[in-house]
Amino acid sequence: MGSSRRFHIRTYGCQMNQHDTEKVSNLLHHAGWRQAAEDADADLLLINTCSIREKAEHRLYSDLGLLRDWKSAASGRLVGVGGCVAQQEGDAILRRFPQVDFVFGTHNVRLVPELVAAAESGRRQVRREEVRDLSRFDLPERHPDWQGVTPGRAFVTVMEGCDMFCSFCIVPRTRGREISRPAAAIVAEAQELAARGVREITLLGQTVNAYGRHAVRRGHDDVGFAALLRRIAGIPGIERIRYTSPHPIFFDEDLCRAHGELENLCPHVHLPLQSGSDAVLARMRRRHDAEAYLRVVEALRHARPDVAITTDLIVGFPGESDADFRETLRVVDEVGFVDGYSFKYSPRPETVAAGDPDRVDPDVAQERLAALQERLRALTLAAHRARVGGRTQILIEGESRRGGQVMGRDPWHRVVNAATGAAPPQPGQVAPVRIVEATPHSLIGQLEVKETPEIADGRETEGCRPRGAGSPTGTFPL
Ligand code: 5AD
Ligand code: SF4
Repeated sequence: MGSSRRFHIRTYGCQMNQHDTEKVSNLLHHAGWRQAAEDADADLLLINTCSIREKAEHRLYSDLGLLRDWKSAASGRLVGVGGCVAQQEGDAILRRFPQVDFVFGTHNVRLVPELVAAAESGRRQVRREEVRDLSRFDLPERHPDWQGVTPGRAFVTVMEGCDMFCSFCIVPRTRGREISRPAAAIVAEAQELAARGVREITLLGQTVNAYGRHAVRRGHDDVGFAALLRRIAGIPGIERIRYTSPHPIFFDEDLCRAHGELENLCPHVHLPLQSGSDAVLARMRRRHDAEAYLRVVEALRHARPDVAITTDLIVGFPGESDADFRETLRVVDEVGFVDGYSFKYSPRPETVAAGDPDRVDPDVAQERLAALQERLRALTLAAHRARVGGRTQILIEGESRRGGQVMGRDPWHRVVNAATGAAPPQPGQVAPVRIVEATPHSLIGQLEVKETPEIADGRETEGCRPRGAGSPTGTFPL
């Protein structure tokens, strides 16, 4: 059955979830399904949920309310719920929402075609058992009809799960224990992607630079994260390598050195700081202090002076005082982040911090969030302004939201919008641009006519070199 059956997936949350959606989509292609552009054309609707903060979790419940009508508008329509809320809530979702046909946890992505087939014959079920062996990484090759989100770019899973148990974070409960994938399988997947024309690979893992510290070393191969990067960097055709998200405590000398040595390792590291206060970091159970974080930044800059550092920050963590928050602002300035995501603390079920009665007043947390975001915006704008007049190359992702322009990212992960001429570059191509303007969210560029088709090496570009590292304003010296 099913060659004309169509699915649509709504995805919330992190890149790990986006990649799980890609995996489900690929599996469904192999099972004869095709992608629908929107809900109205779909026979199967999947919601890939996120529970990192309460707000994200609530999206599922508001979606499910609206989906009642979608489901009853045509016969045979199916609804499946996956991701972190599915892992957490399991049976409760099936019990509370009769419009849901099946629930699959974060370890059970592989079962989706089977769950769909069962649902077609009227069997509702939940599958969310933890899979602790390497079989969870066995997925079919990308189907010929399957398209990633952006041509030319792809995610590759290197490890899953998290054993860090930061006191605010639900991820160790929803994604389970840390497990690394054998290096040979990762390299083989990257080679296959390169052969299909992929130029940029993002290595994914909840604590990606902890790669190899656990299961994989027991009998498979003995490769740490830096060695894995070196292997991938050697694959012909891979022009850009990124990874997300690292944890500060797993930056060793070898990994910092790799940033100085590997031409195709992008000069951008997204390095969550969470707080600049040592007292708060200790209560968050981050296992490092502000000084240790700054040492990692220094080592990275020593190896690759133009590296752009971005971060995640939480305000209003239980017990955070004004002085603690000022410490966060101080470290933010000292690092000179090029960009940052900042969040108000949200208590999550079964986490240690959720039991802490020392709650920060919500208005105070809101004020801190606004102040932090203003500071981050100023840093981003300063970093962008320092780029004007320089050259770079962008990997085209598609049309820009600003009409008549293409959008792409440069090696520093900045969004660049560039006006196109008669023959605009296509998604997946790399195009040289000159930066002509800075805005708070992006750079504006002009495509340059090129004699040789493409420049692959980010270092040949101008305008992205440091102008006086450690500038007095603390802005990132791009
Ligand atoms: N409340 C607020 N922010 C959180 N994050 C993780 N858990 C919480 C929480 N309970 C943030 C962290 C993390 C990012 C992905 O989400 O900053 O790095
Ligand atoms: Fe959550 Fe901490 Fe693990 Fe990151 S390292 S996923 S913040 S528990």
